[in-house]
Amino acid sequence: MERTLIMVKPDGVQRGLVGEIMSRFEKKGLQLAAAKFMKVSQELAETHYAEHKGKPFYDKLIVFITAGPVFAMVWEADNAIALTRAMIGKTDAVEAAPGTIRSDYAVHTNLNLVHGSDSAENAEREIALWFAPEEIVDYDRTIARWI
Ligand code: TYD
Ligand code: MG
Repeated sequence: MERTLIMVKPDGVQRGLVGEIMSRFEKKGLQLAAAKFMKVSQELAETHYAEHKGKPFYDKLIVFITAGPVFAMVWEADNAIALTRAMIGKTDAVEAAPGTIRSDYAVHTNLNLVHGSDSAENAEREIALWFAPEEIVDYDRTIARWI
């Protein structure tokens, strides 16, 4: 089983898409391991997006992600990272394939509704950054055995 950090960004919360986005991962058959609704501090935003520091879109990205509450989640499944990235779609909503979250609901690259870890290394780093170990629930979602 692989774990990944998924976060509904402030635009997704504001537009009332938390349930819809969560529902896609739930129905697909991934297992929810952790979730919380929270505001993002400047420090958390900068650490989370450290790899983008210095890029042209960085400052606006930090302003955006700290502008309103987000819904952070940990989901697990075999190949959870690749699976959720495929369901989220490409960063640019224009390039995102039809049926993906970003294609179905987003218009702009910088307002693209949802974050998903992009590698095993980043998933591990981001889960540790967003959640305390005791917030991650270890259990057996029996139904997942049949998917
Ligand atoms: P990135 O990690 O490249 O994309 P993804 O979210 O698909 O992993 O970029 C992080 C976020 O930065 C992205 O979701 C939206 C924002 N961003 C822009 O606003 N403009 C850009 O040109 C890029 C590449 C990203
Ligand atoms: Mg990324």
